[in-house]
Amino acid sequence: EDIGVVAVGFSGGQGKSGVDAAPSALIESGLLAQLQNELNYKLHGDDKVNAYNDLVPKEDPPYRNMKNPGTVSAVTQRLSEQVYSHAKEGRMVLTLGGDHSIAIGTIAGTAKAIRERLGREIAVIWVDAHADINTPETSDSGNIHGMPVAFVSGLAKEEKPEYFGWLKSEHMLNVNKLVYIGLRDVDAGEKKILRANGIKAFSMFDIDRYGIGRVVEMALAHIGNDTPIHLSFDVDALDPMWAPSTGTPVRGGLTLREGDFICESVHLTGNLVAVDLVEVNPSLAADREAEANETIRAGCSLVRCALGESLL
Ligand code: ARG
Ligand code: MN
Ligand code: MN
Ligand code: MN
Repeated sequence: EDIGVVAVGFSGGQGKSGVDAAPSALIESGLLAQLQNELNYKLHGDDKVNAYNDLVPKEDPPYRNMKNPGTVSAVTQRLSEQVYSHAKEGRMVLTLGGDHSIAIGTIAGTAKAIRERLGREIAVIWVDAHADINTPETSDSGNIHGMPVAFVSGLAKEEKPEYFGWLKSEHMLNVNKLVYIGLRDVDAGEKKILRANGIKAFSMFDIDRYGIGRVVEMALAHIGNDTPIHLSFDVDALDPMWAPSTGTPVRGGLTLREGDFICESVHLTGNLVAVDLVEVNPSLAADREAEANETIRAGCSLVRCALGESLL
């Protein structure tokens, strides 16, 4: 089976450096070699990490309260083309981030390719402590990694092509086909948006109440059988016990095993078309080496599970 791999060394969607070093750390720890040699995937695309330095404008002042808006827009636009070119060949696309702003590019790319190739809308399973659905106006931080879902679903609108106006209807995600798992730090403005749009979300409360098995079952039932699935996994969905090295950790999260279970279940549907793994930041940890290694190991495990490693 064929996989397109895109390694995105990008941190401009938030303020902490180091998340751009995640793809090389994941690759150096052997992730791609395992996919190739143990899971027998045929990998396409370069294993060199994209830095996109050529796309960074000389000046990038805030716009509508967004930080680095021109940079994030240009990088995600280029990324959307990279993802699209893999997905239109029928390859499953694995994107290694980078901060979560990059999902603007990955979802735009898969949505367009799947529309063209299959005439279908994609569904997105967004696994995260956060909803990342702020509009520029509801965001307190101005960090675009807290806004990708708003842009890619059309809830945040912008005409200017240099500020995400390049997103057209073919790139867009239908909010009826979006489902969250793992939420526990959702801003007040985001809660309003979720409610107003009837967006399906399973918080940590739901996981405690129903168990991860039923939650995943309900999530998959919501998007329906036979729908192409884009899995966007923010490593901060995991409890900091398993993934301490991340920019916005929130206690009370998923165990690694629950995260792996989500990934395995999505793999089992046979409908997976794209996976993002984001927000691993090897330079953020109290005990750098040990905690960074734990987080990288967790990230690799999630990806391998999404690609079917633990199936007997
Ligand atoms: N809701 C907060 C914000 O808008 C935090 C977002 C965290 N996002 C993430 N991808 N880790 O800034
Ligand atoms: Mn998050
Ligand atoms: Mn918050
Ligand atoms: Mn996120």
